[in-house]
Amino acid sequence: MRTFLAPMEGVVDHEIRDLLTRIGGYDRCVTEFIRVTRQTLKESLFLRSAPELKNGGKTPAGTPVYLQLLGGDPDAMARNAVRAQNLDPLGIDINFGCPSKTVNKRDGGSALLREPDRIYHIVAAVRDAVDPKIPVTAKIRLGFSDHDSLHTISENIIKAGANELCIHARTRQDRYVPPAYWSAVKGVSAMSPIPVIINGEIWTIDDAKKAREESGCEDIMLGRSALTRPDLALSIKAENDGVPHQLMTWPEVLEMMLIYLQASTKNQHPKFIANRTKQWLVFLQRQYSGAAELFHAVKRLQTEDEIYAAIAAHQKQLASHSHMEEKTEQTTALV
Ligand SMILES: Cc1cc2nc3c(=O)[nH]c(=O)nc-3n(C[C@H](O)[C@H](O)[C@H](O)COP(=O)(O)O)c2cc1C
Repeated sequence: MRTFLAPMEGVVDHEIRDLLTRIGGYDRCVTEFIRVTRQTLKESLFLRSAPELKNGGKTPAGTPVYLQLLGGDPDAMARNAVRAQNLDPLGIDINFGCPSKTVNKRDGGSALLREPDRIYHIVAAVRDAVDPKIPVTAKIRLGFSDHDSLHTISENIIKAGANELCIHARTRQDRYVPPAYWSAVKGVSAMSPIPVIINGEIWTIDDAKKAREESGCEDIMLGRSALTRPDLALSIKAENDGVPHQLMTWPEVLEMMLIYLQASTKNQHPKFIANRTKQWLVFLQRQYSGAAELFHAVKRLQTEDEIYAAIAAHQKQLASHSHMEEKTEQTTALV
């Protein structure tokens, strides 16, 4: 079983990839999508999305990162894939799943799920343009508004020479609303000669088991849950290997969040730290009550200094609680 970290625009940047792959359990990451229009993008743009390209295409922990392209014109996609190839990416992924109206209006993402033939031409153009040694993968949803074209789309992607196919088990119309229809992928995974990866609504070890069983897929991709439980991939692997694993504690997660914020301070918008802190706490509060408390404390704050002060106050409170608990334990032991 392999576990992949999902691409998430505006959320999973290279600092998050660094942090999560250091914790472990991930076999690969994918960058946030890079939008391809008519022009051929500068190499600096690919590097901005994937600074890992300066490190052999891997995160500092050694996890491979694939570059994700999004666009509807086969020729432009091929040209840009060739430009990206100059930077030696470890793989190129093509996005056919993004539901954003802006992206769809500009001819890309999930809008293309209504045009299986065009999907074929895009994948084939990219596949033919780059060195066969570079894997080309595709990420789709079950369809635009129903599952009727799933088989045709998948067959076209396979025929076009893709190396792997990831399926977010919802339609464009479903957006991110639960459930994910893992079993709808079974027909594709059963006939596919290439690995099919299941994605969508995998929040726990149990979900991972069920998603793999119901979809017939060996491999999984984690999106929002990777932010909710930074060690989820590791726990899933541990469970699969029959090795014990303990959930990261809230103070440990908070410490990790501080490392992320400090790594993100340079070259960012003045509200970046405040916005990313709140964004991550919204994910984390699904798992940690401490994150909900901290979110409450920071939700109206704007500046970096205010945010760091609130986190420091929260950590002080946590430390004094744990000190009190230790004292109570010692007193109980004496009695
Ligand atoms: C904020 C956000 C940004 C996303 N950006 C991308 C993206 O850039 N490329 C992509 O292929 N999918 C993107 N996705 C979709 C995720 O990769 C994933 O397919 C989806 O969240 C379902 O998985 P989950 O239920 O585990 O979160 C995004 C999802 C979210 C919530």
